Amino acid sequence: AQSRELEGKKVLVTAGGTMERLDPVRYLTNDSSGKMGFALAEAAANRGADVTLIAARTTAAPVAGVNTVHVESAEEMLEAVLERYESADLVIKAAAVADYRPVVKASTKIKKGNEKLVLELERTTDILQTLGERKKHQFLVGFAAETEQLAHYAMDKLRRKNCDLIVGNDVSQAGAGFNVDTNIVQIFGEEGLVESLPVLSKREVADRLLTQIVQRMKAAPGA
Ligand code: PMT
Repeated sequence: AQSRELEGKKVLVTAGGTMERLDPVRYLTNDSSGKMGFALAEAAANRGADVTLIAARTTAAPVAGVNTVHVESAEEMLEAVLERYESADLVIKAAAVADYRPVVKASTKIKKGNEKLVLELERTTDILQTLGERKKHQFLVGFAAETEQLAHYAMDKLRRKNCDLIVGNDVSQAGAGFNVDTNIVQIFGEEGLVESLPVLSKREVADRLLTQIVQRMKAAPGA
C-alpha cells in the first residue's frame, strides 16, 4: 500500500503548455502534453496530499481526487497559482509556460493581406521566479527543459529562481520530455546533482521525485 506521507499537505502542481492568443481562433503554444504534471498530481494524491492541479493546454486524462483548474495563458496561470500560493506546502512547476506573448491580442480574426505580417512579442511574467521571490514556508520545485549543458542551466535556474529542487530534463533525448509517456531526468539541489534517473514512465519519475521531496521536506526546519 502507498504510504500516506503527504497527508494534510497542500500541493500545487502546474502542467501543460500555455496558449498565448493572437486573435479569437489563433494562438502560440508548445509541445507540452501535460502528462508529466498530471502524473505528479496523481502521485501526490496517492500519498495523501490535498492536490490542486493548474492545467494549461493538455491532452492528459483527468485525475480522480485532484482539484483541477483549467487556464489558458501564462498570465492566467500566474493568477491561479498566486491565489493558492500562501496556503501551499509544496509547489511543483512542470508546466511549459510561454516566455513570450503577442503584444496585441486582436478581438476579431486577423484578416489576410498581401503584405508580410510581423508579430511583436513581449515577455510574460516568470511564474517560478515570482514564487521564488515570495517564498516563505513553501517547498518549491521547478523544471528545467534544456537541449544542452543540462547541469549548468539547471543549477542556474535553481539559484536564480530560489528553488529547493530543480528537475533537469534533457528534452533532446529520445524517450524524454515533451509529449511522450516516459522521461529521463536529473534532480538537482543546492548541493548539486542529487539523483540521475534512467528512462522511466512519467508516473515512475513522479514517484521518485516525490520520494526526494518528502525526505527533504521532513529535514527542513519547521516541517
Ligand atoms: O507536458 P509533457 O508533454 O509531459 O512534457 C513534460 C515537460 C517537458 C513539459 C516537463 O518535463 C518540463 O520540462 N517542464 C518545464 C518546461 C519549461 O518550460 O522549462 P523552462 O526551462 O523553460 O522553464 C523553467 C521553469 O520555469 C519551469 O518550471 C517552468 O514552469 C517555469 N517558468 C518558465 C517560464 C515562465 N514564464 N514561468 C515559469 O514559471
